[in-house]
This record gives sequence, C-alpha cells and structure tokens, in this order.
Amino acid sequence: MIEKINQLKAEIETLSPKDLAEADQLRIKYLSKKGLVSSLFNDFRNVPADQKKAIGQALNELKTFATDKINALRESLETADVTDPGLDLTRTPSPLPLGSRHPLSIVRDKIISIFDRLGFTVAEGPEIEDDWHVFSSLNFAADHPARDMQDTFFIQRNPDVLLRTHTSSVQSRVMEHTQPPIRIICPGRVYRNEAISARAHCFFHQVEALYVDKNVSFADLKQTLLYFAQEMFGPETKIRLRPSYFPFTEPSAEMDISCNLCGGKGCSFCKHTGWVEILGCGMVDPNVLEACGIDSKVYSGFALGMGVERMTNLKYQVTDLRMFSENDKRFLEEFQSAL
Ligand code: DAH
Repeated sequence: MIEKINQLKAEIETLSPKDLAEADQLRIKYLSKKGLVSSLFNDFRNVPADQKKAIGQALNELKTFATDKINALRESLETADVTDPGLDLTRTPSPLPLGSRHPLSIVRDKIISIFDRLGFTVAEGPEIEDDWHVFSSLNFAADHPARDMQDTFFIQRNPDVLLRTHTSSVQSRVMEHTQPPIRIICPGRVYRNEAISARAHCFFHQVEALYVDKNVSFADLKQTLLYFAQEMFGPETKIRLRPSYFPFTEPSAEMDISCNLCGGKGCSFCKHTGWVEILGCGMVDPNVLEACGIDSKVYSGFALGMGVERMTNLKYQVTDLRMFSENDKRFLEEFQSAL
C-alpha cells in the first residue's frame, strides 16, 4: 500500500498538462470519486489495524499533495492566454515604426557641419523683414527689379514690411551689431512671388555664408568653395567659377561643380556640359560693409549663398520641387537610411 502511495505521488509530481482541458482530465483521473487517489481510500478498509495510522496519514498527505498540485497547474494555465495559439511571450517585439528626417533638413545640416569645421557658426534672422536688411543695406539700387511686386511678397501693402527673398539679409543683421572677425553660416526659409511648378516655388531654403576680417581675399573664398564642394559631393569633385553679378558682391561669381552623376563626362542631368551650377558668391562690396558700420579700408570679406533644394536635388535627384512640401510619406520614407 505504501508503495502504491509513493508511486502515485511520483507520478503526480511529473504531471504537465498543456491546456486547461487536459488539467481537468487529470483532476478527474486522480481526484474524482472513482479516481486513483479515491480508490486507494477504498482499499484502506483492508489495511491491517496496526498499519492504519501510518497509511491513513500517508493517504491524506497524498490527497492534499495531488489537490494542491493540480490546482497550481490549473492556475498557471489560466493566466497564460492559451486561447491564442499564436501568442509567444518569448518572441522579440516587432520594432516601432520610426519617422525619418526631411531630406532638406538632412542636407542643410550637412552644409552646416562642413562650415562648422571651418569655424563658421550659425546665425539666424527673421523671415518677416524690412527693406533695409533685404535690399538697401545690400546695395540694391532703389529701382532694382528684385524689389518689384512680381518677386517680393509685401505685407499689407506696406513696402517696408516684406518676406525676405534671400538669407543675405542675415549678413547685414549680424554685421550691424558685430565687429569682425565674423564667420557665420545662415540657414533659413525664403519667399518669392512665383507660380508653383516643378522648378519654382513660392518658398524655398537657402544657406548663406559670410566671412569678414582683415586681409580676406578671393583666394580664401576659392579655397573654402573647393573644400565645401569636395566634402559635400566627394573628393574627386572639381569646381569652376564664372563671372557674375550680385549687387552686394564685387567681384561676383557663380560656382559650378563637375557633374556628380556622370563625373563630368556629360549626361542629361548636366545637359551634356559636364558641369552643374550650385551657388553664387563674391567679395563683399565695400558699400555693404560701410552700410553696416564696418570700415571697408580695414576689413574685407567674402559671401556665398546656395539653395538647399538645389543641393538636395543634386545629392538625391529630387527633380520636382513640390515633393519637398507635399508630405507624401512614400517620398519621405525614402530618406530613412540617409540619416
Ligand atoms: N542672395 C543670392 C540669391 O538669393 C545668393 C547669393 C549670391 C548670396 C552671392 C551671396 C552671394 O552671399 O555672395 O540668389
């Protein structure tokens, strides 16, 4: 009898039902009226009187043990949601979908970080400006066509309150309250009254750079431009400067880089010239320095300005400007790996 009790106990100890239904089966098998434990109680009648005490105790212990064990098994099965066969609590969770940075922000930050390595610091100015900072201080003649209603958004018909048409306005804002050396980089949004198309938009982004100090020369400008172009588009990039005109620089130039798609051999992107235009630049006109309270006999400087959309187009071949402001997720998600 003792042997049977021990055998049953060992058997119950190893039970591991896989669901609640199986646990119920086990309860019936061992603990119901006709169950294995109960049938041992029936056999108890035949136990000799001198063993009754020990065996009775062992039997009661077995019953408590079996009840506790089967209840514990049931409980642990109840807390796990076995109704969902796909549930695996040990599985690694699926990653949360992450957003991506806007391509214009990626490119703007890249431009800033290149100039940062040359000692330029970020300066910002207001988007709602006045005529002085956007035009007059920058040597635009009173009748310059850029001031025209066709180009500039004026606010409330007041010709002195307008949306800046370029970030060059930050140049004069900084120069009027800082004496050289000045080495700034000015990122920001600008506005022009243009019909929206794939190639033009009424707002876009620019980055302006300005360096004013004693003995700043055109050679410094050229070296800075070469460094920038090679950091931005790769060490094999070549640059070329073409004479140009801006009211606020003298001399002025436009910079081309060897086409970064065909490496200068000529393709449809560079219209088979091997070169693509990327920015305007020049030596700060002495009139601008004087207008901002800087002595042009002591100091000289260079400035340059570039479009962020243009740079992004060159880097990622986004040819329709409207994509940048449409917020189409499919477009934005393309830049997830560009961070
Ligand atoms: N402000 C000019 C524009 O919007 C770009 C520019 C050209 C900026 C030459 C400069 C510069 O600082 O030197 O088209």
